[in-house]
Order: sequence, then C-alpha cells, then structure tokens
Amino acid sequence: MEYRRMGKTGLQLSVLSYGSWVTFAKQIDDGISDRLMSLAYDNGVNFFDNAEVYSRGESEKMMGRVLKSKNWERSSYVVSSKAFFGWRGEQNKPNQTGLSRKHLTEACHEALQRLQLEYLDLYFCHRPDKNTPIEEVVQTMNTLIQQGKILYWGTSEWSGAEIMEAHMVARELRLIGPAVEQPQYNLFERYKMEVDYYTIFKNIGMGTTIWSPLASGLLTGKYNNGIPADSRLALEGFEWLKDRTISDERLGRVRELDTVAKDLGTTLATLAVAWCVKNPNVTTAILGATKPEQLTENFKALDVLPKLTTEVMERIDSIMGTKPLMPQY
Ligand SMILES: NC(=O)c1ccc[n+]([C@@H]2O[C@H](COP(=O)([O-])OP(=O)(O)OC[C@H]3O[C@@H](n4cnc5c(N)ncnc54)[C@H](OP(=O)(O)O)[C@@H]3O)[C@@H](O)[C@H]2O)c1
Repeated sequence: MEYRRMGKTGLQLSVLSYGSWVTFAKQIDDGISDRLMSLAYDNGVNFFDNAEVYSRGESEKMMGRVLKSKNWERSSYVVSSKAFFGWRGEQNKPNQTGLSRKHLTEACHEALQRLQLEYLDLYFCHRPDKNTPIEEVVQTMNTLIQQGKILYWGTSEWSGAEIMEAHMVARELRLIGPAVEQPQYNLFERYKMEVDYYTIFKNIGMGTTIWSPLASGLLTGKYNNGIPADSRLALEGFEWLKDRTISDERLGRVRELDTVAKDLGTTLATLAVAWCVKNPNVTTAILGATKPEQLTENFKALDVLPKLTTEVMERIDSIMGTKPLMPQY
C-alpha cells in the first residue's frame, strides 16, 4: 500500500480506501462488511468512509459494530462522517439537514454514537448550503476541532470558489479552514479535479478523498452486456443512478477502453482505479465493494500504475474524450 499526505496536513491516508455508500445495510450484512473491512485493513487500507445519510444512519451503525468487534488500535485507522442530507429521508424536519451550527453539531454527536467512537478523524460538509453563512460553518467546524470531536474538516462537491471563500473566512477569523475535499473523480468526471480546483491545489494545498472511482461499477465493464441482477444499477430505488450512469455512448467508450486494459495485461477495473490515483492531487480513491473478489481485484491497481506511461494516458484520453480543457488565463 502507498500512503499519501492529505493535502498540507500531517495526516497520511492509504491511497486506496473503503467506503460504505449503497452497500452497507442495503446490499451487505454484518458478516460481509466485516470480511470486506478486514480484507481492506489487512491490505493496508487505513481510511473508512461513511455519512449520516448512508442507509439512513444504519451504515454508520454497521461500521461501528465491525470496528468494535475488530479491536484494531484506534490510532491505526481513520474514519469519516458527513453531514448535510440528514438521515430521516422525507421525515427530515427543518434543522435536521444542512450546515447550520445546530445540524453540524448534532449530526456529529449522532455519528459518534452510531459509530461507537470518541472522535471522527474527518468530518465533511456533504454539500454546500446556500442557507447558512460560511462564517457559521467555519466557526462550527473549528469549535468541533477544539472540543476534540473531530480532527480535520472538509467539504464534498463544493466548487473551487466556495472552498476558497471558506479559506478566506478562516484566515480572517484565525480559525482552522477545510483540509480536504471529497469530489467524484473518474474517467467520466474530470472537471473539478483537473480544472476547478487547480489553483487551490497550487496555492493553498488540499487533500482529496475521491468518490466513485469506477463510476458505480460502469468502468469495470460489468454493464457492457446488460445489467447483472446482483449489481448496484439493478437495485430498486436506484433507477436515478442507472439513468445518470449508463448510456450507449458511455458503454461504447468503456468497451473500447477494454482493449487498453487487455494490452496492458490487466482488467478494466484495475486500469480505471490506477488512472484515478495516478493524479498526484488524489490523496485516496475510496473503493466501494460488495464482494471480497472486487476488492482483491481493485487492490491490484497499484501494480498497474507504473504501466500508465504518457503514451498510454494519451491513448486513454483519446478513447474517452472526457479530458477537460484548461482555460487560458
Ligand atoms: N461524497 C459523496 O457525495 C459521495 C458520493 C458517492 C460515494 N461516496 C463515497 O465513495 C465511496 C466509493 O463510491 P462508489 O461505491 O460509488 O465507488 P465505485 O468504485 O465507483 O463503485 C463501487 C461499486 O462498483 C462495483 N464494483 C467495484 N469493484 C468491482 C469489480 N472489481 N468488479 C465488478 N464490480 C465492481 C460494486 O457494486 P455492485 O457489486 O453492487 O455492482 C461496488 O459497490 C462510497 O462508498 C462512499 O464512501 C461519496
């Protein structure tokens, strides 16, 4: 396993990590989540990602039960939670969502209870909140750090401008600013990581914990010939994700990308994960998995990394056609 510094912080994250969205308490039970987290930990993974909204809080409870039963040294792993969406779905009342001081504080307490932990290593604002002044968000996160309830705070799917505003406010108020962002980054979604955050990486420093490095599995090639019954995009209630993820055009590109994987003597999944962590601004790519074989395959991405030469990267770019244009300043 390779470990990377999370932006400008002293914290080191394994370049491949493991998260629980969709899977925990929906697709897998305590037994499988224990096997998957153990497999990850034994392979050097030190970061486990979670959020209040995942399976309406049940995902954090499941991860908490596994962590408790493992007895791993608390100092050997990093756990996150995220607040914004609330966990009650349609039952959410005002103040049970968003980034107000009230919700951020209460969601942190609830996450700690569900995860059975004394502190969160990382605490994310799951989305920007147009209804809460950024001063309130920065002050609340700083307070939670001072109280020892969280160690670092970050954002998820914020724009570069929103993150910069948080930094400016933190600087002005002499408070601790965001250290890490959690964006989607994969061969179909490149703009934020490669263009929007460019000046933040260059001038401020920022860690990134990447979500959906395989575009929910599309980049494994598993959807090339239809939708397998036991896959994420066949799940009831996730039609929106299927519609957003799969199209004939995308499938055509994935099929073509398979020829690159074959030429490199590897699989599409390992190629796509390796491509993601090849970007030095990626601190860690969070893997999702429902089966041990998936994690075992995806960990091999680190062996593929050295094969991603400039020529191979250019070939991938021309097949995918998704490389964003950097504006000329
Ligand atoms: N901040 C945010 O807004 C946000 C949003 C989404 C996710 N996240 C975080 O990022 C993590 C990763 O996201 P993700 O789960 O979407 O990642 P992903 O890697 O794009 O998709 C993971 C899914 O793809 C399938 N898969 C993975 N490896 C495979 C393989 N080798 N062969 C075949 N199928 C394979 C599995 O689903 P099936 O077996 O069910 O097909 C697995 O659950 C989440 O767990 C969560 O912690 C954050």
